[in-house]
Amino acid sequence: MDQCPSAPSPDAPAYRGRVKYDARTARRYQQRDPARHRAELRLVERAFAFVPVTHRVLDVPCGGGRLTVALAQKGYDVTAADLSDAMLAIARETIAAQGLRCPVEKQDVERLTYPDRSFDTVLCFRLFHHFPTPEIRQRAVNELCRVARQFVVLSYFSPMSFTSWRRKLVATLGGRPSPKHSTPLREVKGYFANAGFRLVRDFAHRVVLHTLHLALFERVGDFWP
Ligand SMILES: C[S@@+](CC[C@H](N)C(=O)[O-])C[C@H]1O[C@@H](n2cnc3c(N)ncnc32)[C@H](O)[C@@H]1O
Repeated sequence: MDQCPSAPSPDAPAYRGRVKYDARTARRYQQRDPARHRAELRLVERAFAFVPVTHRVLDVPCGGGRLTVALAQKGYDVTAADLSDAMLAIARETIAAQGLRCPVEKQDVERLTYPDRSFDTVLCFRLFHHFPTPEIRQRAVNELCRVARQFVVLSYFSPMSFTSWRRKLVATLGGRPSPKHSTPLREVKGYFANAGFRLVRDFAHRVVLHTLHLALFERVGDFWP
C-alpha cells in the first residue's frame, strides 16, 4: 500500500530544533540582537541568585556557550553540553577565548550519559519550547532532574503572552503553525512533580509581554519537608 504523502518519514527528527544547527545556522545564532542577549542574561542571573556559587552546573544545551561563559565568570564550575557539533565547536572557541577551561561534551538531553545527581544545578535554556509532545517534554525533564542533585533551571514559552496569542491567531487563520510550542506553567510543574521536583520561583522579563519564562525547580525531600 502507498504511504500517505504527508506522513512523516520514520527517520525524520521529532522536532526541527534537534537538527537545525548546522555550521551556518549555528554561526547565525551567535549574531542575535545584543539587547535580547542581555535581557536573557538578566533572567538567568535572577534565577542563579538562588544558586550557591560553589555549585557544579550543567549547561545543556549550551549552544555557542554564552551562558556557560557568563556562569563560569561568576565562579560556577560549569560543564557545557549540546547535540550539535557545529554549536559545540563554537562553544569551545568562545570558552577558550575567555581563558576558561569548562568541559564541552556532546549530549542528547533526552538521553544524558551522566550518572544520577552528577551536577548540583542543571540549566536548560531555550530548548523546551522546541519539544512538540508531552512525551518528549517529560523524557527531557526526567533526564534533567535525574542528573541534578538540587536545582533545575528551565526556560519555557508561556501561552499567557502577546507573542503566543499572535502565533495561535496566525495558525487559526490558516497561517503556518509556529514550530515553537508554549506550555502552561501548571503543565511544566506537572512534569517536574513526576520527577520529584517542585517549583521555587517562575521568572519573566515582563509577564504577558514576553513569552520566555525561566522556572527554578528544586528536588523535594532532601531540600524541602
Ligand atoms: C536556541 S539554542 C539555545 C542554546 C543556549 N542555551 C543559548 O541560550 O544560547 C538551542 C540548542 O539546543 C540544541 N539541541 C537541540 N536538541 C537537543 C537535544 N536533544 N539535546 C541537546 N541539545 C539539543 C541545539 O543544538 C541548539 O544548540
